[in-house]
Amino acid sequence: MENHRLVLPEHLNQFGYLFGGYLLMWVDEVAWMAASLEFTGCQFVTVGMEAIAFHKSVKQGAILRFETTLARTGRTSVTYEVSVLQDETEIFSNSVSLVRIDETGAKQFLPKR
Ligand SMILES: CC(C)(COP(=O)(O)OP(=O)(O)OC[C@H]1O[C@@H](n2cnc3c(N)ncnc32)[C@H](O)[C@@H]1OP(=O)(O)O)[C@@H](O)C(=O)NCCC(=O)NCCS
Repeated sequence: MENHRLVLPEHLNQFGYLFGGYLLMWVDEVAWMAASLEFTGCQFVTVGMEAIAFHKSVKQGAILRFETTLARTGRTSVTYEVSVLQDETEIFSNSVSLVRIDETGAKQFLPKR
């Protein structure tokens, strides 16, 4: 799945660069959307991400591209790799794991596919 995001003034930190918390939120969001679209009718919550490292700063006006691919399907959980690119350069990547839950918040087996 591919998504885009425009970096606006409200996404910047006090130094004028993208605040990392927004980037993590967007990465979490695209992974959740990918899981929800791929596993129709299932509800997901995020259970974990990899260790976080920000190696490239991002300026206002950047158009970021999020490439989200299914990396692993477990019993109750799925893991998506999210790569974030600006002008064809990867500025961030991470794996996001999500667990299928029922209406009470208890984990559920994924449907057979
Ligand atoms: C999601 C939740 C229901 C899972 O219940 P749990 O008893 O902790 O689950 P388990 O430890 O048995 O793990 C369930 C699955 O998640 C995987 N998992 C657990 N911790 C993980 C982590 N840190 N990273 C990746 N996968 C993880 C397990 O490997 C397992 O996968 P599988 O069933 O596909 O083999 C529970 O942890 C929860 O409610 N967490 C809060 C979720 C939430 O609110 N997220 C929003 C952020 S605040």
